Amino acid sequence: MTPAVRAFLLGVVLTLAVLAVGAFAFTGAGVYPIGADVPHTPLTLRMVERLRDASTERASKSVQVPTDLDDPARVAAGAREYAEECTGCHLAPGRTESELRAGLYPQPPNLAEDGMDNDAEAFWIIKHGIKMSAMPAWGRTHDDKRIWALVAFVRKMPKVSPAQYQAMVGAKATQTDD
Ligand code: HEC
Repeated sequence: MTPAVRAFLLGVVLTLAVLAVGAFAFTGAGVYPIGADVPHTPLTLRMVERLRDASTERASKSVQVPTDLDDPARVAAGAREYAEECTGCHLAPGRTESELRAGLYPQPPNLAEDGMDNDAEAFWIIKHGIKMSAMPAWGRTHDDKRIWALVAFVRKMPKVSPAQYQAMVGAKATQTDD
């Protein structure tokens, strides 16, 4: 190893060490606002979203999507589960607000309006949840069949009217599970 290469490598190691110490000091200093009522800085937000999107995309590649997601019985079963478990955070046809959702950061997407177009990713996210957000891992309590029913309903939801939703879920539609 020539002296020039040795000096270069030493420089790299020292720079990394300074960065590591700096990151350690910053995270321990308590200066980053962790409260859910103050948004992330733009850079932190971009990094967190990049991490989330890349991770869910990679992890959901191995998910096998059933061919009968349009089956009305499956969609109806998903609607009933959804009405019980998801509306406080993700709203529903005819439900446009919730006190629980208002205080969450990151804001849960309005699935009643936006739905999900990637079935494999929707399944993976519902089953495993998302760290450092309020999205629970429903796979702890739900088998894959129940989770696919939820996906079957969520992908259809933007086209479901409040009256159709009410007919599908009955009394559950009016509950306010804030
Ligand atoms: C306590 C609040 C909460 C509950 C209850 C909840 N979620 Fe979520 N969910 C979230 C949050 C927050 C996110 C966004 C996380 C993020 O962006 O990092 C999310 C994300 C999602 C996504 C990904 C959406 C997208 O556009 O990428 C799906 C699908 C989803 N949730 C489905 C469900 C279903 C189905 C249920 C009910 C079984 C449910 N969630 C219950 C908070 C919740």
